[in-house]
Amino acid sequence: TPDTGYWLSVQNTTLAPDGYERQMLVFNGSYPGPRIEANWGDMLVIHVTNELTDNGTAVHWHGIRQQGSNQYDGVPGVTQCPIAPGEKMTYKFRAAQYGTAWYHSHWSLQLSDGLYGPIIIHGPATANYDVELGPLFMTDWYHQSAFILWVQSGMYGGFPVRQNAVAPNGLLNGTNTFPCDESNDPACLGTGKRSETVVQKGKKYRLRLLASQTDSWMKFSIDGHKLTVIAADLVPIVPYQADSVILASGQRYDIVFEADQDIGNYWMRAIYQTACNGLSIDRNDIKGILRYEGASQSDPTTTQWSSITNSCGDEPYASLVPYVKKDVGKADSQKNLNIGWFYETDLVYHWAINTKALEIDWQRPTDLLIYRNESVFPTDYNIYEIPADKTWTYWVIQDLGLVNAYHPFHLHGHDFHILAQGFGLYTPLTKLNRENPPRRDTATMAGFGYLVIAFENDNPGSWLMHCHIAWHASQSLALQFVEHQSEIPALVDSVSADFESTCAKWETYYKS
Ligand code: C2O
Repeated sequence: TPDTGYWLSVQNTTLAPDGYERQMLVFNGSYPGPRIEANWGDMLVIHVTNELTDNGTAVHWHGIRQQGSNQYDGVPGVTQCPIAPGEKMTYKFRAAQYGTAWYHSHWSLQLSDGLYGPIIIHGPATANYDVELGPLFMTDWYHQSAFILWVQSGMYGGFPVRQNAVAPNGLLNGTNTFPCDESNDPACLGTGKRSETVVQKGKKYRLRLLASQTDSWMKFSIDGHKLTVIAADLVPIVPYQADSVILASGQRYDIVFEADQDIGNYWMRAIYQTACNGLSIDRNDIKGILRYEGASQSDPTTTQWSSITNSCGDEPYASLVPYVKKDVGKADSQKNLNIGWFYETDLVYHWAINTKALEIDWQRPTDLLIYRNESVFPTDYNIYEIPADKTWTYWVIQDLGLVNAYHPFHLHGHDFHILAQGFGLYTPLTKLNRENPPRRDTATMAGFGYLVIAFENDNPGSWLMHCHIAWHASQSLALQFVEHQSEIPALVDSVSADFESTCAKWETYYKS
């Protein structure tokens, strides 16, 4: 039978998404990367080739549960060794959920330089629509590689930290304009364009929104058009109406809107929220055009919904009601995870969870140690073990107010249930909602606030939980958890040839 899989090649290139030319990293020459599509229940086979001139890579399928396929989660240092330049690795996993997900490099800051693309898994929807539009990414956008920005350590709140760079611009669907007017900067080509979405009056559209920011939160809206929100991450929800939706890095919302206004042109907006972490953006003019068939080719002159304020957090807790009900069982273990800072030997602050910062060793991924029976894990691996007799884990993720920063936490291998989310200190009196609470794979902990999550321990493997702000993840704001370790060697066994050869090739590359 022919190979029906996907081929992704990781490449260095130069592109100008907003008309400002820069070095980027892309899949198959395009930004964002090619669309991966499947039907609910399909097996996906994806061949990833590393064509980078230097550096390893690995691709993570954000939101995909990887039930029984932990080895394909794509996390270098946890589930695999990096794919060495010139080498290939084939990922195989089932599309066991449906909705909108995405894939991105999980090697350091490669995602920020352009290595991501959408995954669409077709399945039932909780509202009717006539036409499905293409997936739409929103992002902040930098005019230099994140790897260059990263080493420019700066001060933040009076402390020496790695860069929390201010973005000069943002993109909607991988494109935007950028003014070159007074600069003689040869990289500023002025060729940027607004994205355009064409609709027909009277029709209903489904739009898959994906947030790929390096930092901060963005609100999406369409002037004059109400949004009906039908899914949060890969979880269908009871539809609700909104003027805008806020997305943290890693989150997705599926929305339906009706082209029910006068034939004309309307702005679609991705509005950067400076209320999050106090960061600013140089140019908060991230817009695309919604053009009705029969309208002029000019730019819209519409105004933003007046209800949209500058604020931070997730969509309202009460709005995110899963359509397929699921209650949460009693905790087998409950752990407090306090978010703080930690001063490292490289003389900058790192983020820490319970005073520990995650350090991983790319040559010795956790799964390899388990497979080789060397499972006394180094402390730096920041591993929490979930023994085989456990079914429900509760984590109280708390910012004690010293740092007072918002973080979108993402859990690998699971959708989690949000038992509580609020400001101030979590106390034993805080009410936990176990009855069909919001469920998703990325959720926000507020600055001086808490996020209480629960997840079912039904997926053996080594998994990460981390902040999805790329700078913060690189500043070690992550932990690993090893779930039902005794069942992991059997999983690795079934793929051991690929697994070992990826590591062997990486070692050869690394040592040369
Ligand atoms: Cu979207 Cu661990 O990442």
